[in-house]
Amino acid sequence: MAEPKENLQMEKIVSLCKRRGFIFQSSEIYGGINGFWDYGPLGAELKRNVKELWWNTMTREREDVAGLEATIIMSPAIWKASGHVDTFSDPMCDCKKCKKRFRADQLCEDQGLTLIKTADGKFALPAGTKCTACDSKELTEPRPFNLMFKTYVGPVESEDNVAYLRPETAQAIFAQFKNVLETSRQKVPFGIGQIGKAFRNEVTPRNYTFRSREFEQMELEFFIKPDEAVEAIHGSVATVPATGHPGEPQPNWGWQAWHQYWVEERVRFYEGIGLSRDTLGFHHQTPEELAHYARACTDILFKFPFSKKDEHGNVKGDELEGIAARSDFDLSQHQRFSGKPMGVFDDELRGAWAKLPKEKQDALWKRYYDNRKNYLTKSGVEAEAAQKQATADADGLAKGQYIPHVIEPSAGVDRLILALIANAYTEVTKTDDKGKTETTYVMKFHPRVAPIKAGILPLLKNKPELVAKAIAVRDLLRPWMNVYYDDGGSIGKRYARQDEAGTPFCLTIDFDTLGEKPELLDTVTIRYRDDGKQERIKISELRDFLLSKTR
Ligand code: GAP
Repeated sequence: MAEPKENLQMEKIVSLCKRRGFIFQSSEIYGGINGFWDYGPLGAELKRNVKELWWNTMTREREDVAGLEATIIMSPAIWKASGHVDTFSDPMCDCKKCKKRFRADQLCEDQGLTLIKTADGKFALPAGTKCTACDSKELTEPRPFNLMFKTYVGPVESEDNVAYLRPETAQAIFAQFKNVLETSRQKVPFGIGQIGKAFRNEVTPRNYTFRSREFEQMELEFFIKPDEAVEAIHGSVATVPATGHPGEPQPNWGWQAWHQYWVEERVRFYEGIGLSRDTLGFHHQTPEELAHYARACTDILFKFPFSKKDEHGNVKGDELEGIAARSDFDLSQHQRFSGKPMGVFDDELRGAWAKLPKEKQDALWKRYYDNRKNYLTKSGVEAEAAQKQATADADGLAKGQYIPHVIEPSAGVDRLILALIANAYTEVTKTDDKGKTETTYVMKFHPRVAPIKAGILPLLKNKPELVAKAIAVRDLLRPWMNVYYDDGGSIGKRYARQDEAGTPFCLTIDFDTLGEKPELLDTVTIRYRDDGKQERIKISELRDFLLSKTR
C-alpha cells in the first residue's frame, strides 16, 4: 500500500529508510498493510538505543521513578474507567460517491476549514467541504469511530469476552499504582515509567510512521501531592517562572512547578540526542482543547518535512510528546470503578494540618472539597452523592489522606525515530575535477542514538595480518557497543556505506597498526563522520573514547 508522497524530502527519506534497512512496510510481500511498519536491522538498533536512553534517563538514573512492564490486553473494565470505551473516538465521514473514508477534522483541515463542534458534543462539516478524492460534496455527517482494536479472550466470541488492545500504556500504570507504591518503597512525589506497544485503529494513518496503527509509547506517570497538601505542609506553594527549567525538585512544588520541570526535562532529553531547540516547537493547549479534568498540557513538537506552515510562513511542527497535568482524575476513576482505594496516607500532612490555624484549615478544606465535587459531578455522579463523597474526601485530607495528582510526559517512540531520521538526513553534493557531480547521503545521528557506533575496516581484505588485527579490534569493542566489520570494496566506498548508516566513527586498521612505522604500532586511524577529519588513536584507548562519546 503506497504511502501518499507528502513532499520530495519525505520521498527521499522514505527511500533511504528502505534502501538502508531502517524501516520497511509491514507484510510488504503481500502488498503491505496500511498503518503498520517494520524496523530493519539499522532501525531496530536505533529504536533500541532510544528506548534504552529513555529508560535510563527516566527510571534508572533517578531515585524517584520506578519501572513497570504490563500486559497489552487488560481487563476491559480499565478502559471503561479511563473513558476510552465511551469517548476514545475520532469523527469519521464517508464520501457517498466514491466511498472514500476520512477523518472529518483532517478532511476539513486539508481544505483550510475547521470542523464544527455542535452544542450537544457532536460534529458537523462546514459548508463547502468536499471529498479530496473525487471533489463530490456529498459527504455523510461525521460520526464517532472508536479507535480501540477489539478482540475476544478465550474460545467464545461473545460480548462478555470482548477485550481491547491497549491504546496507551498509561492505564496499566494507574491500575498497578498501589502495587508499585507498596513494593518500591517510594513515596509521593514519585513516578512510574513504562515503555511498550500501543494500538489505535486510526481512521487514516498517514505521514509514514507518524500516525500508525501499531506503535510504541514511553510514558511516565509522575504522582504528586495535591496543592492543598503542599500548602498545608509548607505554608505556600512555590511559584516558578513560566519558562525555563525550574531547577532541582523542591518539597514545596505544586503541580505548576512540576509540570514546568517535566517539560524542560523532556526538552533536555531531546537536546541530548541531537534535536536542538530550534528543531522543536511547543503547543500549549487552550482551555477549549483541554480535557475537563486537565490543568495544562504542553505538546513538544518537531518540525517534520511534512509539517505545515502557518499564515506567516513559520513551521510550528507536529507532536512528538505531550506533557499533561491531569489532576487526580485517573486514580479517582479507578477508585470509583474498581471500589479499591487509590489514596495514600501522608504522615507529614497529618502533623502539619493539626498545627494550622482554623481559618487556613477551612480555606484548604473548602478548596479541596470544591475540586473533588467538581471532578465527581463532571464524571456523572449525582449532586447529593458528589457532595457526600467530596466531604469525606476533604475530611480525609485533614487526616493526611489524598489521591495523588499526576503529571504525565507521554512520548511516542516511532515519532521520535522519524524525527531523528529526518533530522539526521543530509545530502552532500560533490563535483570532481572533471566537473561530474555526485550526491551522497550522510545520516548525522547523535552518537548516543546511532545504530552502529563504529565501523571497523581493515585496509585490505587479502592481507591476513590486517584482517586478524581488525577482527581483534572488533572483538575488543563488541561487548560494549554495536560495531560493524566491513572489508568489502575501497575504503572510500566503505566510508560512504557507514555515512549512510549514520555511523559516527570509522576505524581503519592499516600497516602502521601492525608496526610499519614503529611509533604507530597498535594505533588505528579514526575518521569522524561529520567533518571527515582523521587522526590516530591507540587501540588501548579506543573503548573508553568511544564509550565517552556514545553513552
Ligand atoms: N497517555 C496519554 C496519551 O496516550 P497521546 O497524545 O494520545 O497521549 C502520546 O499519545 C504520544 O504517543 C503522542 O505524543 C505520540 O508521540 C504517540 N502517538 C499517539 N498516537 C500515535 C499513532 N497513531 N502513531 C504513532 N504515535 C502515536
